[in-house]
Amino acid sequence: MQEDIQLNPRKFVCPEYVYGVDSRLMAATYCAKLGGRKIFVVTDAVIKESRWFKELENDLHTHSLDYHVFSSVSPNPRDYEVMQGKNEYEENKCNLILALGGGSVMDCAKGIGIVCTNQKDIHRYEGVDMIKKPMPPLICIPTTGGTSADVSQFAIINNTSEKYKFAIISKAVVPDIALIDPFILTSMDAFLSACTGMDALSHSFEAYASNANSAFTDLYALESIKLIFGNLQKSIEQPFNIHARGQIMLASLYAGLAFSNASLGCVHSLAHSLGGFLDLPHGECNAILLPHVVGYNFDAAKERYLKIAQATNMPIADSNPSKIKTNFVEYLIRFKESVGINTTLNDLGVSTDITATLAAKAIQDPCNATNPRSPEIKDLQTIYNESM
Ligand SMILES: [Fe+2]
Repeated sequence: MQEDIQLNPRKFVCPEYVYGVDSRLMAATYCAKLGGRKIFVVTDAVIKESRWFKELENDLHTHSLDYHVFSSVSPNPRDYEVMQGKNEYEENKCNLILALGGGSVMDCAKGIGIVCTNQKDIHRYEGVDMIKKPMPPLICIPTTGGTSADVSQFAIINNTSEKYKFAIISKAVVPDIALIDPFILTSMDAFLSACTGMDALSHSFEAYASNANSAFTDLYALESIKLIFGNLQKSIEQPFNIHARGQIMLASLYAGLAFSNASLGCVHSLAHSLGGFLDLPHGECNAILLPHVVGYNFDAAKERYLKIAQATNMPIADSNPSKIKTNFVEYLIRFKESVGINTTLNDLGVSTDITATLAAKAIQDPCNATNPRSPEIKDLQTIYNESM
């Protein structure tokens, strides 16, 4: 019952964050505040060539802060990149990490922080609450509107030998400061905007339907869904519309606060296995899987999915729940197509030959624990097959 859920003890963890245009320009001030002596700047090859990186360098110079740049981060950051980053952090005697980039950059920065203080291989920290010692101070400046690694208790790293992405979930990976500047989103292209926006939407859906939801996470999750349905298309069609970009950045922040505390579900367990095996964009995988996971979960959390459907503004003419479920799955497929994601898993190179392997990895992912319906391997394989 809802009343019982609201009265159960629930914690809420988040970093200090600054949201707003030009908050990115506060990076050096915060580095100095946190005692930064030599800053380890984590970014990727694309962002390193951007105006955001040049601005950051100027900012660090102006504040006379010494720094070392580590930009060897791939999409779906690899375990060996984390270990390489750790070596460079130590060789350069850094004492603070500053991440400028999307989810991959921020997750890699978190991984580097973990191994710098805990000194073992990154694989040792897979799972929930496996980190003993706190990381060095970490400041994050997200350059995409969706992953929310800048506020979350999650880091996702690619295990390259076993070809799957593993989750590290711990209060220890919450950054110290997040500088969330919607102006940066004006440089995202349409496809990246769509993928990261659909990632944020998946976070909100899964946090709201999660069996670890709370009054606080519900608030953020539902508001995030309204903002995404109201602004994602516009933010893609009008990339310099700062109002629409601002609403999407806010939606991403809200979704991050919700999922960081309520955790996720099968969309993410399936996407982690898939993204690691075929090295695919996380947001695109989520966008394809989300409608089918909703179809799978709907009956186990009917009231919650009805609230979600209302938040999306889907017209609900029928009172028959099974009709609503069918319509909602279709509505979500049309929404992802409306933002420019027209692919299926088949288009991404998935065939029925590998879905058993993917499902066997996905069943081990900790995100399943909070899914409203407890999946078996065959359920996960069926969802992959339905998404082709
Ligand atoms: Fe995600």
